[in-house]
Amino acid sequence: MQELLVQNVPYLWLLVAGLTLAYSITKWYTITTDKANQSILVRKFPAIGNDFDWKQTKPLRVRPFENQKNFNVNMKIINLAKTPEDWLLIEDTYLEQTRLRKKFTEMYPNHTYFSYDNEITSAAVREFYEIVTNYLLTRYPQYFKYNWWTGMITNQINGLTFPKHSKSDTPSQLILHLAANIEEDIVILLKDNPKDPEGEYIYRAGVSGFPAGFDPSHGYNKPLSYIHGPVPQYPNRLKLSMGKFFNNLKPKDLWVRHNWSIQTHTAYFSLDSNHGRDGEKIKQLRYDEIDFDNSCFLRCERQILTRLPKSKANIMTVRTFLTPIKQIKAEGLGEELCKGIDGLPDDLAFYKKRGAWGEAVKQYLRE
Ligand code: HEM
Repeated sequence: MQELLVQNVPYLWLLVAGLTLAYSITKWYTITTDKANQSILVRKFPAIGNDFDWKQTKPLRVRPFENQKNFNVNMKIINLAKTPEDWLLIEDTYLEQTRLRKKFTEMYPNHTYFSYDNEITSAAVREFYEIVTNYLLTRYPQYFKYNWWTGMITNQINGLTFPKHSKSDTPSQLILHLAANIEEDIVILLKDNPKDPEGEYIYRAGVSGFPAGFDPSHGYNKPLSYIHGPVPQYPNRLKLSMGKFFNNLKPKDLWVRHNWSIQTHTAYFSLDSNHGRDGEKIKQLRYDEIDFDNSCFLRCERQILTRLPKSKANIMTVRTFLTPIKQIKAEGLGEELCKGIDGLPDDLAFYKKRGAWGEAVKQYLRE
């Protein structure tokens, strides 16, 4: 017996080594998967501090045309995972923007918000809702007060109250609470079959208080490729990379991308006026037809993307900034913006209606 054992020692060692290796691989895999599924947004966020005053906080400086060599459409995503507390911003525009979004959702209910009526969409909306209420309570404790007796949060800036938890309201009501209490629009995307890598993400719920020249309701329950149909260069330059990006998005990720255009009116809400559409004749505006002091803006979006850990929905929040063009000029960025305007390829220039405002805006920026 002893002899048998001695003879088999090398095999026993091999077995032990094999088992140890298998255990280590399983453990490594579990830790890695857990980490990937750990949401960047499910946490206690650092409070912004008592010296923070929303009325004194100027809007984030977003100038996506700056230092660019190529103005074709692209993904251009930047990692925000190191500072997830910068997700939802409260700035001196807060009161006006939340008031406006509340007004637009009341005026245009069919064009501004929706939630597809199925279990997984409702679960995603509820999950997202609680992530946002937790964010507001921990990041901005001076402005959002929780009453554990009533279960309600009071917004000290605009006076509204809304529940901390999602169970007592319908998904649409939850979206309306969010719409009236954060400055960002919301997009919730789900796949019909999450296991199908070819399957597309579908726009299943959200609110668009500030559509930039498109009707959000045309995209309800539609896949991203349909929604981006009017976007020039989408099939060649975006479709594939966007598909890969959304398939690989993890709850630990937080990405930001920006876009820019110019508008010659003051409206945040535009269902149809900012973009050139197929067959449209674009009329060039004379310099004196634009009110550069009061109604010509650089319009930018700050889009933030991640995945929810439980429902696995992909989400995008969209913050709209209107910066007076005279401010861009005062910042000394006139020539840089002219470069961006001239650098737009023809198809994108048409989409952004450069033919209407391009020459007049450049003249203003250069004089
Ligand atoms: C990485 C993600 C995304 C990329 C790279 C992307 C890219 C673009 C680009 C290049 C445009 C043209 C205007 C611009 O310059 O921004 C656009 C327009 C648009 N995008 Fe996206 N997008 C993304 C995600 C989404 C998502 C998740 C939605 C959800 C509904 C969405 C909805 C739209 C809509 C509605 C328009 C306007 C289309 C129109 O003019 O009718 N995008 N997108």
